[in-house]
Amino acid sequence: MAMNILILGSGGREHVLGWKLKQSPKCGKLFFAPGNGGTASLGTNLDMNPEVVNTKLVDEINYFCRHNDVEMIVIGPEDPLAQGLADRLAKPGRIIFGPEAAGARLEADKAWAKQLMRAAAIPTAEAKIVDNYEAAVAYIETREHGLVVKASGLAKGKGVIVCDTPAQALDAVKLIMVDRAFGDAGNQVILEEKLNGQELSILALVDGHNIFVLEPAQDHKQAYEADKGPNTGGMGAYTPTPLLTEDLRSIIERQVLVPVVDALKRDNANFKGVLYAGLMLTPGGPKVLEFNTRFGDPEVQALMMRLKGDLVDIMIATAQGTLDKVSIDWDKRYCCCVVMASGGYPGPYEKGHLILGLDEVAKLPDIKVFHAGTKQSGKEILTNGGRVLNICAMGKTLAQAQEKANAACDMIQFKGAHFRRDIGYRVM
Ligand code: AMP
Ligand code: GLY
Repeated sequence: MAMNILILGSGGREHVLGWKLKQSPKCGKLFFAPGNGGTASLGTNLDMNPEVVNTKLVDEINYFCRHNDVEMIVIGPEDPLAQGLADRLAKPGRIIFGPEAAGARLEADKAWAKQLMRAAAIPTAEAKIVDNYEAAVAYIETREHGLVVKASGLAKGKGVIVCDTPAQALDAVKLIMVDRAFGDAGNQVILEEKLNGQELSILALVDGHNIFVLEPAQDHKQAYEADKGPNTGGMGAYTPTPLLTEDLRSIIERQVLVPVVDALKRDNANFKGVLYAGLMLTPGGPKVLEFNTRFGDPEVQALMMRLKGDLVDIMIATAQGTLDKVSIDWDKRYCCCVVMASGGYPGPYEKGHLILGLDEVAKLPDIKVFHAGTKQSGKEILTNGGRVLNICAMGKTLAQAQEKANAACDMIQFKGAHFRRDIGYRVM
């Protein structure tokens, strides 16, 4: 029997998850809350805001699900997870994809996550946790090198400032703790040793006890080519990456994934959902930069392009604790996902610009465009966010995939559009 599914969120992650779920014979009607200009072509967009979890939202979702026979709810973004939406929507017979708040804390409270990593001896960057400005300044003044300054709470992927000098770190701490650029998310700050190396995203499905590691991906966080400029939510990703050797995979499983799931269990968090380790591959081995507790965006766009299994089955197995019975096949080709962003992103940007060229790109083989910050207005698609579109291309080699994705980006126009042509360059 096909099952109706509600996906919460409005980004490229939610568009690609809907696209993949829809390929399953077990997927009935799809609903997105609120969705975007792309999800509207897969199902129905609902006027809801899942970012702020309160009784009104929970009632709205429950009412909608009851009247539309929705049996499965997929929670895409971190904010509702951290606020306990999965806990509040849980009921017998309903499948929720996404961890409860106790597990989502791993992403939402970086200071707590750092302490958990230390206690479980998980390799991670050295760090000092401070909860007031004076203490932060005093610590930075003892340092001679670069530092990474992180707001402990959720800040839409913008709460991390990589500083090359102590002077920059002082500015960053002032921005977070005095100017309160990220509000309460900056009440605690992590002052972290700056690590060098390649970054690797390892995403695993966890069903409470089984850990199912997905194919490795590499994200490109900086806004401009050659990894210059400010941090963003991610400007592009590709998969697979040759960075993950068999040895490294078993080190990451043994030293990172297994101990973190065990540590969460000791804390009474029965983690079910996506566990995402952002790692730096340093000369001294892999070290955790952060954990996320949901699919990475844009990593998941590239991963879903290669996934050959039935995503409905996979999500049910994750929620029901039967991942040990799942096997997943992957397209052996590479996928390169390039993010087209609004002019000014990750800083302030304009919205409402007309997007041209989508129909032409839709005719190309091996290419798929997922919408992130877009909205439909009549027959037109307009920009509606910082990261606007995710252009995914498949290729026999990474270079081919990148070339095809870039060529497709060149066919799409909107005012101020910018993207990186070098996604994957660090291994090419
Ligand atoms: P996070 O959200 O903690 O993953 O940080 C976002 C990005 O900041 C990472 O993907 C890295 O590019 C960078 N970053 C975070 N922590 C460090 C660190 N300790 N050393 C160097 N770069 C870092
Ligand atoms: N691409 C990084 C993230 O989703 O946080």
